[in-house]
Amino acid sequence: MEHRVADSLKILTEADKEACETVRVSENEPVSGKKRLFIESYGCQMNFSDSEIVASVMRDAGFATTSDVNNADLIFLNTCAIRDNAEQKVRNRLKQLNFIKKNKPGMLIGVLGCMAERLKTKFLEEEKMVDIVTGPDAYRDLPRLVEEAETGQKGVNVFLSREETYADISPIRLNSNGVTAFISIMRGCDNMCSFCVVPFTRGRERSRDPYSIVKEAEDLFRDGYREVTLLGQNVDSYKWKSEGHAETSGETVVNFANLLEMVAKVNPELRIRFSTSHPKDITDEVLYTMKKYDNICNYIHLPAQSGNTRVLELMNRTYTREWYMGRIDAIRRILGEDCGISHDMIAGFCSETEEEHQDSLSLMAYSDFDFGYMFAYSERPGTLAAKKFTDDIPEEVKKRRLAEIIELQRGMSLTRNQRLLGTIQKVLIEGPSKKSDSDLCGRNDQNKMVVFPRENFEKGQYVDVLITECNAATLLGRVVQPEPVVG
Ligand code: SAH
Ligand code: SF4
Ligand code: F3S
Repeated sequence: MEHRVADSLKILTEADKEACETVRVSENEPVSGKKRLFIESYGCQMNFSDSEIVASVMRDAGFATTSDVNNADLIFLNTCAIRDNAEQKVRNRLKQLNFIKKNKPGMLIGVLGCMAERLKTKFLEEEKMVDIVTGPDAYRDLPRLVEEAETGQKGVNVFLSREETYADISPIRLNSNGVTAFISIMRGCDNMCSFCVVPFTRGRERSRDPYSIVKEAEDLFRDGYREVTLLGQNVDSYKWKSEGHAETSGETVVNFANLLEMVAKVNPELRIRFSTSHPKDITDEVLYTMKKYDNICNYIHLPAQSGNTRVLELMNRTYTREWYMGRIDAIRRILGEDCGISHDMIAGFCSETEEEHQDSLSLMAYSDFDFGYMFAYSERPGTLAAKKFTDDIPEEVKKRRLAEIIELQRGMSLTRNQRLLGTIQKVLIEGPSKKSDSDLCGRNDQNKMVVFPRENFEKGQYVDVLITECNAATLLGRVVQPEPVVG
């Protein structure tokens, strides 16, 4: 699952990625008479989406969000535990915040999210100035935990639920461009990839009521949003069962393909994206549903993690190299050569040989990925890999393999982008480009960032852009008039 703030950076090293993963809230309502909450989020889109739920829960408890940390009564860090350096970032930030707190005696600091869940009360022992520790399934309890902390006790709730989906909570959109939004469709993960901490930090997989998802999409569309990204650790295993739901008769089973179709029907002008797909679970039914609806974007994030079957087995990914290639073939067959595909790859997993690393490179070349998120293996305490295998690839070898993976991806990204020179791409405008206010940016169907002169266009509009230049990360062009509809 990847990152709104990282969207324009297609090729990310681990360090780059974590450097751009932090987002602070902006003030989104007047604060008079209310206490002020500052939230900072780290990690994946799920965490950013959760912060919007947290803001909603806290608003009902009398807190308004603020972007000024020095002015806050309450600070929440929504943390990530996926790699060691993600946790180091949080520890460093806590040190800084504790300086501010020293001069503001009433200020409270809460640690939420995956690192809170992983470390539980150990957080309080290790980081003396943390007042509240809350895991991802306990956000409804935050107002009580804050009250407890206000009396000088520590507020801790790291209970993981089998049911919680926050389906009834309307998120407060933080740092929103007003055009694109995330919708959480499930929580947790039942896979046990041996390198991964997520099943321990987010608990068992559960799917959210599809009708509440459709309603959220409808509300967003009504409020002017034009793109939703459906989020889950493994969206292909979305499954919701009901007996006699109010809007149906008898038992209903909704799978991910059904859900995609339901959301696609909200409005043809609403674009649908989703993340993350799992190679073992993505079905042809999903691919055909994508093909059937123009507003379901032609883009799939399909993490590979390795291109070698032995390593994949050690990782407990439950597919082989050939299976992964077969899924790529199915995507190309059903959705065409132009379908955008991105991946995640881990360099230097336990006992990975040079030949096995070469297999990762050749799988990438076979798959012709548009972009990727690439990482050096980082052992996480408590995971299957930490228990069963030795983290035996020296740091400099991991780094060198990672650099080779990134270099290959950079070249492929450039070639994939060059294929689009001279074509017309349908772009949903998200706002001003990062580099210049006189340019706008937005993404095409395949999730590629496109930058073009502002003229009189506005965010939220669809425009047809003739692509005239590109680099590995971005397409550049100009809006063409009249506007032929392509894509
Ligand atoms: N649910 C998604 C991934 C979530 S974590 C999936 O199944 O693909 C995002 C990415 O972080 C993973 O795809 C993996 O590439 C990377 N990652 C997870 N644990 C890691 C670790 N211990 N070391 C390095 N990278 C890791
Ligand atoms: Fe982690 Fe695997 Fe679950 Fe993804 S599918 S969150 S990598 S355990
Ligand atoms: Fe996401 Fe990091 Fe947790 S990637 S699920 S916030 S460990």
